[in-house]
Amino acid sequence: MDYSEIIEQNLNSILKDREDDITVRAARYSLLAGGKRIRPKMMFMTYDMISGSDNSLFDDVLYYAATLEIIHTSSLIHDDLPCMDDDDLRRGMPTCHKQFGEGIATLAGDLLLNLANERLLYILMEHPEYAYASYKISELTGYRGMIGGQSIDLDSENKKISLEKLYELQSKKTGALIESAIITPYYLVNRTTAESAENDETVTLLRRFASHLGLAFQIKDDILDVVSSAEELGKSVGKDERDDKSTFVTLLGFDEATGKLEEEINGAYGVLDSLALKDYKTDDYRAFVKYLEDRGN
Ligand code: IPE
Ligand code: IPE
Ligand code: MG
Ligand code: MG
Ligand code: MG
Repeated sequence: MDYSEIIEQNLNSILKDREDDITVRAARYSLLAGGKRIRPKMMFMTYDMISGSDNSLFDDVLYYAATLEIIHTSSLIHDDLPCMDDDDLRRGMPTCHKQFGEGIATLAGDLLLNLANERLLYILMEHPEYAYASYKISELTGYRGMIGGQSIDLDSENKKISLEKLYELQSKKTGALIESAIITPYYLVNRTTAESAENDETVTLLRRFASHLGLAFQIKDDILDVVSSAEELGKSVGKDERDDKSTFVTLLGFDEATGKLEEEINGAYGVLDSLALKDYKTDDYRAFVKYLEDRGN
């Protein structure tokens, strides 16, 4: 099913009526600037795949989906700052700091990240059984995940890093939030705990799927930085080369990067085959993998 409208409506309700504060205005400016919303969409794809006709956790999945998009948006605001990637264009609009200044943009990123953690805790008061789901999102956002990857990304500018380090960089900076998107609904539905996750074959398969998809998504992002246009992408292009970033394209060249993309795409299909053997309906994810491979923005 297409949940785009529900996701947009829900995001639009966040921090509404609090816009007397300029940082709130800046946060909403970036949150509502558009974007593909692939992380919330993945949440619903997993939920549809595992829940069958039982729709009872729909609102909770939506709550977590919006929370993840909030985290993702905070990472983009900070990623674009002059002290990081120094970008002027995001989601087809001036970046947050171009519109509101660097100080407010820094605060807007902080505000969104804090809001996300507030939401991850708030829902536990009513649903303590979601503790593992909330904890994992917080963990995968931090130094063991997205922020850790961003740290390696900045530290790898103007350097020739090993292929192994590059995989770590990409898995963390992009793969970690994609893992959250793909697995969280499974945790919610199954009331997964740290112990039960250990011996759960589906968790293992979903993590493997997420790993392939996260890498494929970031390799494609690196490729689009070279072959696409600002009009199509809604963000500036050619910046990885400009900033001497370590990416699959800058490190391996275009052809080898394309080969690595194919490897990860095939890996993702392979895990979907295994999930199908467990009687999960994988058609939506199959179409999504194809979309990620072919996407032009
Ligand atoms: C951009 O993410 C940053 C990366 C992790 C590559 P998206 O390509 O999902 O950006 P939006 O949300 O659609 O703007
Ligand atoms: C950004 O990676 C990853 C995060 C924001 C966590 P990039 O720097 O490659 O993303 P774009 O190309 O600016 O969207
Ligand atoms: Mg970056
Ligand atoms: Mg960037
Ligand atoms: Mg990029």
